[in-house]
Amino acid sequence: MSSDTNVIVANNFHPPTLSKMEKKFRLHHLWKLDEASRKECVDSLSGRCHFAVTASWSCDEEIYDLESLRLISAFGVGVDGINFDRTQAQGIRVSNTPDVLNDAVAELAIGLMVASTREIIAADQFARTNKWLEGPFQLGSSLKGKTLGILGLGSIGQSVAKRIMPFGVSIAYHNRSQFDSQYQYCPTIIQLAEVSDVLLCLLPGGADTNQLVNGAVFDALGPNGIFINLGRGNSVEENDLINAVTTKKIKLACLDVYENEPHISEALRSLENVILLPHIGSATVETRTKMGDLVIRNIEAFLENEQLVSEVFS
Ligand code: DGY
Repeated sequence: MSSDTNVIVANNFHPPTLSKMEKKFRLHHLWKLDEASRKECVDSLSGRCHFAVTASWSCDEEIYDLESLRLISAFGVGVDGINFDRTQAQGIRVSNTPDVLNDAVAELAIGLMVASTREIIAADQFARTNKWLEGPFQLGSSLKGKTLGILGLGSIGQSVAKRIMPFGVSIAYHNRSQFDSQYQYCPTIIQLAEVSDVLLCLLPGGADTNQLVNGAVFDALGPNGIFINLGRGNSVEENDLINAVTTKKIKLACLDVYENEPHISEALRSLENVILLPHIGSATVETRTKMGDLVIRNIEAFLENEQLVSEVFS
């Protein structure tokens, strides 16, 4: 491997990783170019560039025009930004960065569960605006004795479950199929919402999960229910969510992901009973460093004719 290895960078996903990559590869930053220059760049790399790197959740379609592309090494676990019709048709392999982000996403899930049941954000506002002078803040609710429903129980969900059980919280889940686990299985999303005090959505994006969480799910979650989405925005019917929060069909929603990131609808931003985060599930220095190293390691494995560390088989 040498700095003669060309790599297309589709977007500016993690500057420290890109700096590391500069020392190993010859990078071509597509995202810095205007449309005409992007096409020129892709054409000029034809036959001599086999690699692209990108955030897994959003990728410039232009890279597929590079017919010599052999590997997209994606930064992130949810590969909804990748066009698998194109990768399959063109024989392009895809890798992602699973597992190294489980801890960070699980920590955020726990943080949101505590913040939402104890209303930490509203309590901060209350203290900051001197409302305490008029009387005490409303009572929160305990996590102990409650049920966390996990929609999409994979390795991230298991990390959440392991951490929250010592709080005295029971776990239920819904996946397309039941697997051998100690947790209560619910055959439908509605049934999961019915048994949940907190419903945590960890669904991957893509057509299979599109708008699976809708008004009927929020009705089943009920007026004391808390909905947290750390999966993908497209899994939720956003108008139904706005309606459920506005009419207090559910108590509160915590969102880290949205349909059209980084745009968050005005309707959502104006609601009080929501906590809005800018897609920070895996955003810790430690985790992003590990994710970036895995992006690099997958390219190196390809160059060394080794098995990819984390190939995505679609
Ligand atoms: C991912 O890797 O898919 C996460 O959403 C990033 O936070």
